[in-house]
Amino acid sequence: MARKLLTGQVVQEVSEEWKERVGKDLQEYKQGVVRILPEGWIYPGVSPFFLDKLQQFQFRTEDVVVMGYPKCGSTWVQETVWTMMNNPDLTNPHAEEGIWNRSLEISSDMLMDVVNYDELGLDSIIKILGKMCPGKSKEDGFALQMLEVMPGPRIMKCHYAFELMPLDFLDKTKVIYVLRNPKDTVVSFYHYVRIVRLYDYKGSFEKFAKEFINDQMLFGPYWPHVHQAWRRRSHPNLHLIFYEDLKADFMTQLHLLDKFLGTNLGTQQMQNVQHITEFTSMKSKGTPITDTASFNQSIMEKEGGFYRKGVAGDWKNTLSPELNQEMDKWIKDNIGDIPIKWDDEKR
Ligand code: A3P
Repeated sequence: MARKLLTGQVVQEVSEEWKERVGKDLQEYKQGVVRILPEGWIYPGVSPFFLDKLQQFQFRTEDVVVMGYPKCGSTWVQETVWTMMNNPDLTNPHAEEGIWNRSLEISSDMLMDVVNYDELGLDSIIKILGKMCPGKSKEDGFALQMLEVMPGPRIMKCHYAFELMPLDFLDKTKVIYVLRNPKDTVVSFYHYVRIVRLYDYKGSFEKFAKEFINDQMLFGPYWPHVHQAWRRRSHPNLHLIFYEDLKADFMTQLHLLDKFLGTNLGTQQMQNVQHITEFTSMKSKGTPITDTASFNQSIMEKEGGFYRKGVAGDWKNTLSPELNQEMDKWIKDNIGDIPIKWDDEKR
């Protein structure tokens, strides 16, 4: 039965055909999977509850939200922003905690509604919820409840598209939106849904990639997500970052971020941030969350962890010539006025 979100979009259950073709390769959600129309966002069935809660959530002017489609490099930017704002002199003892414990993801609430929830090993986050929000229940989500009581400035992450956020959100809050070549995004995404036990994806890469470009994969569709950010690019509270630019010249991007955030870091502090956020430094810490049991250790040992390769252009080692051609056409048909060639060799 269709229902409306507070934002006006319509929520519809996914079709039986989708469940049979796509859903069967993913972990089963207790409340099923829905599409949010008209764009057709494919989200867990519990998402309407949290999306409506998000409309009541009070953003603050000192907040910083890192946004982007999953697997665009958002954790890298989260760590960069957190370190710039909280640890530029490398003296903050909290820096030892996983970045996802220090900087909460708004959209993570909707991910927890899986059948084997209690086996996922999210013990540390449940403990933090109990400590920060006594009497609050985990069924009401972690992120928004904890963020409500968190002192500022709060640095958050969010994978929801712009249209699902509160209307005045961007006027109140600084937002950094991260973009990445969708060919690398889909390769990274496939790895992610296999190593994270919340998804436990069982299909092949070819199948996953085809569902992704046909707007049928969980968290799709890709292009409206990116275009909704691109359209807002002249808003003074929005800063766009390309993963490929970060890879090509991190320091230049750091200076732009410093200006956007008003952090005014000195030369040594900038170097500290660069050092802490290097791929090898971040990878050496393990996973971005303390609850390592929520990851499939055996796949991670064989095929790489959360910090998999951290490069631009790795799609060349994975995409078949046919799939590459299909993605080129898909990019050409959808890129619109985003003046990016998504060609790592030219960046
Ligand atoms: P790969 O799987 O291609 O290695 P997100 O944080 O949005 O989920 O994106 C994850 C991707 O960003 C992964 O890509 C991950 O390795 C990469 N990444 C994370 N930290 C990075 C860093 N410090 N430098 C470069 N890439 C990084």
